[in-house]
Amino acid sequence: MELTQKKITNLRVEHITKRFPGVLASDDITLEISEGQILALVGENGAGKTTLMNILMGLYQPDEGRILINGEEVHFRSPNDAFAAGLGMVHQQYMLVANMTVLENIALGFKAAWSPYKLNLEMVRDRITEVAKKYGLSVDPDAYIWQLSVGEQQRVELVKTLCLGARFLILDEPTSALTPQETDELIVLLKNMSSELSIIFISHKLQEVKDLSDKITILRHGAVVFEGNTHEHSPSDIAALMTGHEVDLPLNEEPACEGIPVLDIKSLNVKSDRGFLALNDLNLTICSGEIVGLAGVSGNGQRELAESINGLRKVENGEIQFYGENIANKSPHHIIEAGMGYIPEERNTEGIVPSFSMKENLILKDTEHKEFSRYAFLKNKAIDKNAEDLRVKFDIRSPNISIAAGSLSGGNIQKVILAREISRRPKFLIAVYPIRGLDLGAAEFIHKQLLEIRHEGIGILLISEELDEILDLSDRVAVIFKGQIQKVLARKDANRRSLGILMAGVKDDQTV
Ligand SMILES: Nc1ncnc2c1ncn2[C@@H]1O[C@H](COP(=O)(O)OP(=O)(O)OP(=O)(O)O)[C@@H](O)[C@H]1O
Ligand SMILES: [Mg+2]
Repeated sequence: MELTQKKITNLRVEHITKRFPGVLASDDITLEISEGQILALVGENGAGKTTLMNILMGLYQPDEGRILINGEEVHFRSPNDAFAAGLGMVHQQYMLVANMTVLENIALGFKAAWSPYKLNLEMVRDRITEVAKKYGLSVDPDAYIWQLSVGEQQRVELVKTLCLGARFLILDEPTSALTPQETDELIVLLKNMSSELSIIFISHKLQEVKDLSDKITILRHGAVVFEGNTHEHSPSDIAALMTGHEVDLPLNEEPACEGIPVLDIKSLNVKSDRGFLALNDLNLTICSGEIVGLAGVSGNGQRELAESINGLRKVENGEIQFYGENIANKSPHHIIEAGMGYIPEERNTEGIVPSFSMKENLILKDTEHKEFSRYAFLKNKAIDKNAEDLRVKFDIRSPNISIAAGSLSGGNIQKVILAREISRRPKFLIAVYPIRGLDLGAAEFIHKQLLEIRHEGIGILLISEELDEILDLSDRVAVIFKGQIQKVLARKDANRRSLGILMAGVKDDQTV
């Protein structure tokens, strides 16, 4: 089938300025990208990357400035106008409908398939096959979104954008939720695609920026502060240009702790959404004052483990002993009261209430606490002070503390969750991908915070796919594979190689 989009040989934004109440999100930005180029857009959390892309896609109107395609000025009143011109964006938060199939999701945006009386699903199916073949992107059109891993959903977003005929792709942190393997695959794919498309790529992971892009633009406080050719700069150069200083992630160098077992998981069986056993007789013990890193390829039970410990998923059988109480199948509220802290994977749906203010989100779990309420009345002064303190300490970039948490930038939403969970000093913390979406400076700060609360005696289960993060922080490393703990290694025995072998499911290799 024919799509109407013309080739985009050049896209230019000139003097774009965008103000939100209290924030200058884009400050006189001019940049240009030509056919076949990949431009990396980097900068700290809240620097204005997503805002600029939303302007390009017609989601926001700029206060000043203009957009030119192939030298001609365009006016996008909505994303539909941007699609029609050949622009497509994969957003930082995926926008798929969970209880619909891949085919139905793609059909939603596919205007050509809608006649007045019926939807031509076969036309959409053909188009998916065509795109899948052309770009080597395989997706199952009949799978439900809720059945897919994050990596697969990411692929669906990409296919959807390409089905609509995009000639110019905007990818906002496409790899932040992908496994290292999925990331490598995506990078190869994008490189191949770049012969036909132009791409703007946003990422906090500088190695990827290095591997993929031709040019780099750095934003700070809404303004372009640096432009250059990627091959002329090392990742540490770029980091320094971005933050204004050298970044050094801290290491856990304290002796292995000798705390008492506080979280003791015995023969845990838990089902996945699809009904099979995601945790199969899982055993794991974690002490006070230690960080246990859970390494594994995503989809091996990590999500189910975090959810079942926090009362968000049914335990079929087995025990979760927490400070001497079996909390299996207790309510989330009960488990929070028992002292469990949780940094969830899904920050927008599980971590914050987007329509509540930032300050309310910062006390979400403590609204009954006497520090913040009395006879069902909230103590506003204490709540404001708490939010102001955390805003400064965690460097949350927001114009004020009353702003809806959902309007913060992706990384700053993550900082709100981290600030709340770390500052309330739980007795134990489950941290799932804690630095996902954070800029390097913020990642450094969060790692320091995790080491500090460990030092205070709080036990931490750190779930991550970043082996560097696990190796930097953990006292012990447990490797999860198909819902079981393959092996638990002391820090001194854990390295990329030993973990890699165990993560692939090899149990008692002599070389480990
Ligand atoms: N709809 C909105 N209403 C009010 N403020 C907004 C809105 N969207 C963005 N902002 C503000 O604009 C600034 C830039 O945000 P933006 O999302 O563009 O940052 P970013 O560079 O994408 O950061 P991150 O790396 O954390 O995703 C932030 O201060 C943010 O709070
Ligand atoms: Mg963003």
